[in-house]
Amino acid sequence: MIGIIGAMTEEVSPLLIRLTNLQTHTIGNNKYHTGRYEGREVVVAYSRIGKVNAAVTATVMQQHFHIDKLLFSGVAGAINKSLKIGDLIYAEKLVQHDVDITAFGHPLGFIPETGDFFATDPALNTIAEETARELCVKLGKGVIATGDQFIADPDHKDWVQKRFKADAVEMEGAAVACVCQTFQIPYFVLRAISDQADMDAGFNFDEFLVSSARLSADFILRMVAKLDTAK
Ligand code: ADE
Repeated sequence: MIGIIGAMTEEVSPLLIRLTNLQTHTIGNNKYHTGRYEGREVVVAYSRIGKVNAAVTATVMQQHFHIDKLLFSGVAGAINKSLKIGDLIYAEKLVQHDVDITAFGHPLGFIPETGDFFATDPALNTIAEETARELCVKLGKGVIATGDQFIADPDHKDWVQKRFKADAVEMEGAAVACVCQTFQIPYFVLRAISDQADMDAGFNFDEFLVSSARLSADFILRMVAKLDTAK
């Protein structure tokens, strides 16, 4: 079973309309949709925004649906100046930019016995690169920084860039990464840029959420069709 999470309904509805054999399961206050795509069994859910919600959803997918891979699909704010609205980027590494226990001598983002940077699965990243080549789509890669903050301020954006060498910012990826690291599930995080995390970010997000979310979802489904179903 392949798990696919988005944060918002706009991020998962382009996935759900393409599944067959859809069944809905309510667990806690959330809905998990099982179905099939190109012969693969998938479970899709939107977590709601933020790290805690994303961690709950990823954990339920592991415990209840026994997923063997987890893919995240959604939108992000661009930090790297080369990223424009609609561009795709996948995470090679993720970090929680809002974790701060520097008072005890730890680097920003670092949690004892957890670490700071979470590395995504090289095999899934290779499949993403192959998918991009086949579709002739530009696919960026880099550091995605996660925090429970919608960044809409150039100074804050610069700070995240300098501290973590981040290329994009969002609100769920590193939480999903932390759960997947805990349960040793290979994971992949894809984002399509919806805004530049600047003064116009709120406005741009509202305007481009749906179109960028669809680009990410379409790419994710192309990847699903290439995944090994043996497990
Ligand atoms: N997701 C999309 N844009 C974002 C931003 N600017 N900050 C945090 N999460 C985002």
